[in-house]
Amino acid sequence: YAVSRRTILSGSGALLAGAALWPRPLQAASAPYELVAGTGRQRLAFDGAERLARTWCYNGTVPGPLLRYRVGDRLDVAFTNRLPEPTSVHWHGLRPPNAMDGAAPLTQPPVAPGETMAYTFDLNDAGTFWYHTHFRSFNQQDRGLYGVLVVDEAEPPAVDRDLVLVLDDWVVDAAGRVSQTFGAIHEWAHAGRLGNVVTMNNADDIRLPVRAGERLRLRLVNVANAQVFALAFSGHETVVIAEDGEPVPPRRQSDVEPLVLAPGQRVDVILDATAAPGSEHAINGLTLTGEISFGRVVYAGEAAPEGRSGGPVVPLAPNARPTLDLEGARRIPLAMEGGAMGRMRGAVLGGTMMNMRELVSNGRVWALNGVAGDMAEPLVTLKGGETVIVEMTNDTAFPHAMHLHGMHFREVEREGRTVTDAPWRDTVLMGAGERVVIAFAGEGPGRWMFHCHMIEHMAGGMMTFVEVE
Ligand code: C2O
Ligand code: CU
Repeated sequence: YAVSRRTILSGSGALLAGAALWPRPLQAASAPYELVAGTGRQRLAFDGAERLARTWCYNGTVPGPLLRYRVGDRLDVAFTNRLPEPTSVHWHGLRPPNAMDGAAPLTQPPVAPGETMAYTFDLNDAGTFWYHTHFRSFNQQDRGLYGVLVVDEAEPPAVDRDLVLVLDDWVVDAAGRVSQTFGAIHEWAHAGRLGNVVTMNNADDIRLPVRAGERLRLRLVNVANAQVFALAFSGHETVVIAEDGEPVPPRRQSDVEPLVLAPGQRVDVILDATAAPGSEHAINGLTLTGEISFGRVVYAGEAAPEGRSGGPVVPLAPNARPTLDLEGARRIPLAMEGGAMGRMRGAVLGGTMMNMRELVSNGRVWALNGVAGDMAEPLVTLKGGETVIVEMTNDTAFPHAMHLHGMHFREVEREGRTVTDAPWRDTVLMGAGERVVIAFAGEGPGRWMFHCHMIEHMAGGMMTFVEVE
């Protein structure tokens, strides 16, 4: 390379100071916030250089603007589509009225090019959420149509800095260009579209600057199409305080116990900067494809004068949740089948039983209960307040990340063992061959999508919906 190591370091430093650490988060005002989907270019830092990736994005950046509110605020987004194809915006993990869920075409017609749509609803849950396209997602989401949405607690915990860390992966060709090819059925039938470059806040070797004595709140968000990330901050204990936005009893993790995030999942942790000024500590990672490094935590030479590290970690106030009636609940089996090396011989699509060849020619390779995602019938119809138990069996050779819209669920059984007090989540990771049983109760009326968040699996048939009356 013609650039020296020094230039590279200062280059990614500039990148960090810009979009990457979001030092000045956008505080959504009371006036409608204008969100525009369009085409653009995004700076990424990988392989020691800055690259420009062609993207589809919100308000010109990937991730899109950090939308930040306080619990009880009203989200009021005036959305405009300036893309060459229809799109929609889904508010992942939030519980809006069904018509605001953005799951086109189930809950709304997609927003046509040049059209606008107002998304408005009350933000009753605090936590770390995200928003993303929900139309032709295998194409649109991977091109960059996603952003992070933070709803601050009424009384946020006292920290020195509150940082969003976005985990993503990119398919990069030999010349260092971000690939613009999406939708290969071969990828759909396997793990999904996995990148060969992994980034945290758009850099493959992040420098996370801290000062000794600081207490950080890190909000980790996995926006990748299909990649599962595990990561650990060497030399640092972390305390998990929320998963998928929902507070959990603070849980200490050593620097070798990884934080695991399936696509769509979020984890909030408290990290106390207890190491020595001037020291550096690797952020170690593991993906479905192997070991990686995300970069380093880099300590300034001087300690923070009045850092908050070392104080007690106070649990966050939980969001309002329904009560589950596990005894009285209906039990619904959900057989997950298909994909490469799977046993599936055929499935129903558009009311017709098709063999694998016919399915593949229709872009389908996965099925739930023998239906390849035709979205004709709900998996289950339930009443508001009614508890349903879904017994999911992953009879495929791949992991899946099942995500439910509009409601969160609790795991009640995994691999035949009863699970008690599991956190409320909106996305659950299941290994190949695993059986996971979840329970949820009907909340807002409407049709809510239930699908694998490995986007190519969803597109390839691993999707259904539940209907709340
Ligand atoms: Cu994050 Cu149906 O999506
Ligand atoms: Cu999947």
